[in-house]
Amino acid sequence: MTDLPKKLKLKLKKRQDNNALRSLTLPESLIDFSSNDYLGFARGPQIYEAAGQIMAKRNFLHNGATGSRLLSGNNGLYMELEELLAGFHNSEVALVFNSGYDANVGFFASVPQRGDTVLFDGLIHASIRDGIGLGLAKSYKFKHNDLENLEAIIRRCRKTGTPDGEIFVVTESVFSMDGDSPDLPALTQVCTSNHCRLVIDEAHAVGVFGPNGAGLAQEYGLEDALFARIVTFGKAIGCHGAAILGSETLKAYLVNFARSFIYTTGLPPHSLATIMAAYDHLSVIHTPIGSDRSGRNTALSLRKNIESFNQNLKTLNLTQFFIPSQSAIHCCLVPNNERAKRLAQNLRESNFDVRPILSPTVPKGMERLRICLHSYNREEEMNGLLKAIQKHTPDFA
Ligand SMILES: Cc1ncc(COP(=O)(O)O)c(C=O)c1O
Repeated sequence: MTDLPKKLKLKLKKRQDNNALRSLTLPESLIDFSSNDYLGFARGPQIYEAAGQIMAKRNFLHNGATGSRLLSGNNGLYMELEELLAGFHNSEVALVFNSGYDANVGFFASVPQRGDTVLFDGLIHASIRDGIGLGLAKSYKFKHNDLENLEAIIRRCRKTGTPDGEIFVVTESVFSMDGDSPDLPALTQVCTSNHCRLVIDEAHAVGVFGPNGAGLAQEYGLEDALFARIVTFGKAIGCHGAAILGSETLKAYLVNFARSFIYTTGLPPHSLATIMAAYDHLSVIHTPIGSDRSGRNTALSLRKNIESFNQNLKTLNLTQFFIPSQSAIHCCLVPNNERAKRLAQNLRESNFDVRPILSPTVPKGMERLRICLHSYNREEEMNGLLKAIQKHTPDFA
């Protein structure tokens, strides 16, 4: 095997010198405050069994898709799943991609054209940035969740841009790193009145917010005003894959032009069946206790944990260190890679699985611990974690 070129080795060394070298580790059996499995679906035996039944019932006993969806990789499960997703999310249609990364790259690399403009929130996910980077449209970022700044940029673009250029605006309904949310109804209003096409990435909202976990756009009844939504299945849904929700014509366009859809093997049938089973389970866990289909109301447990965590932040005088959040994602700012890493290590030694998020993943000075809450975290675990953090606050500055 030949060695890595010297200039790349130097890049690695620089990462190491900045305390930002990434490496793969195996999960330890600590208390989970780091996974995106907000509702415990990834390890849910009912979903696992139901997925097997879905495949067996349809006599669909294949291991792999066998090809791209445009060649041999499409099948009845895909069609059934897309119909289910469109109905569940109150969308004209749905198009399944292999991952949220693929969906965002495919959309933003192919839909905005030369002469168009993409306006993206300053904290938008890397997959959207990568997609925009592959496309031909101009792009500008607006200040995080700042609608006045967005409107000012829209006005400037309308003055200076191509007269018939489209403006796309993209944001996340729950931000993956900060856990906060934009004012979606107000943002939708700004986009509608300025004739912009709004795209919302619901990766961290699906399963948690909205009717039966359908997401925040549906919570506010905004579906018809949006150009597209991206829902992903690797977070609260507990499996893998993603879908773009939108119009029939958008779907036809993506099938023809989104390269991350066209030039890749389809998902294995078992993944499709797992998504179907997980969506069925969503309506069970969101059903109020006492009615026919209710399981343990897992969705309610998560909401209660979020409330209780926020209450404990106040009681322990820790709010100043945390980014305000009503979602399952909470961030304790610990500026400096070295300090954030050290604190995460201390917490891990106390049995809490908390990961540091370092620069360059977040801007310098915004390094943090990212704490994910779950339906299955116990009150004493959350309290124990916050008390352990409290002990270390003198080291933050
Ligand atoms: C906001 C957001 N969009 C998209 C993705 C990508 O989704 P996936 O993990 O399915 O590729 C992520 C995952 O980290 C995310 O946080």
